Amino acid sequence: MRLDGKNAVVTGAAQGIGRAVCERFAIEGANVIAVDLNEEEGIKTSEIIREKGGSCSFFKANIGDLSDVESAIDECENKFGDLNIIVNNAGIVRAAMVHKMKEADWDNVINVHLKGTWNGIHAASKRMIPQKAGRIINVTSGAGLRGTIGQINYSSAKMGIVGATKSAARELGRYGITVNCISPAAITPMTETIRTDERFEKTYLDRISLGRWGEAEEIAAGFLFLASDESSYVTGIVLRVDGGMGM
Ligand SMILES: NC(=O)c1ccc[n+]([C@@H]2O[C@H](COP(=O)([O-])OP(=O)(O)OC[C@H]3O[C@@H](n4cnc5c(N)ncnc54)[C@H](O)[C@@H]3O)[C@@H](O)[C@H]2O)c1
Repeated sequence: MRLDGKNAVVTGAAQGIGRAVCERFAIEGANVIAVDLNEEEGIKTSEIIREKGGSCSFFKANIGDLSDVESAIDECENKFGDLNIIVNNAGIVRAAMVHKMKEADWDNVINVHLKGTWNGIHAASKRMIPQKAGRIINVTSGAGLRGTIGQINYSSAKMGIVGATKSAARELGRYGITVNCISPAAITPMTETIRTDERFEKTYLDRISLGRWGEAEEIAAGFLFLASDESSYVTGIVLRVDGGMGM
């Protein structure tokens, strides 16, 4: 049990990578607050975990709203105790070529990913600094690291998250808090279109050295490493759990 007694807040927990991270953290002994806008599926995440004997509670929040994120952490502290781990994972895509993109789609994607990640780092660091310990895990993307076609909003936010991770790692290291990023490539509802549309399917698969998309559970193993004591001397990195896609 690598997270025995640790308290974690995980955003984007209603499906995909976030749900898999909640499940893995709970299996490893963590108490998890599963945060999402999607109440029905978020509650399902907590039920799946509790049925297996794990500790998880759903909390509805919009991560683009700082007061919602503060409330999610309050919920963790009230239910379980000190916040030890936050995973800033929730996300959306609103794809369009740059000249056709609506301003609202730029604003929404930047708000959920970049502001949402800042909200998580900001709110968590205030709680973690007095504890002189903590794990902050953010999520970037190959789309940000390499650039991509049709997602300038998402790519900009995801590269911004790398900058935020590195800056926060430099600021918070002195307090014993690590801040890292995962760059995943996984089978989730978010990647459904590019995995099943034949225009994209081969292009993406050709880039993945292992020749297949990862399961969300395989990505969760990377989060576990960054949340556990085994990564005590790791901060400011982008850990690619992407089958070699980002090489
Ligand atoms: N799946 C991949 O291959 C891949 C690749 C690169 C990066 N990512 C990143 O990994 C993270 C998880 O992706 P996924 O594939 O599991 O996506 P997903 O679409 O399956 O799940 C995202 C979750 O975030 C929630 N969410 C969206 N906006 C929210 C908000 N404002 N507040 C609270 N919750 C909100 C959704 O309801 C959903 O449950 C995202 O940040 C995504 O950009 C995924």
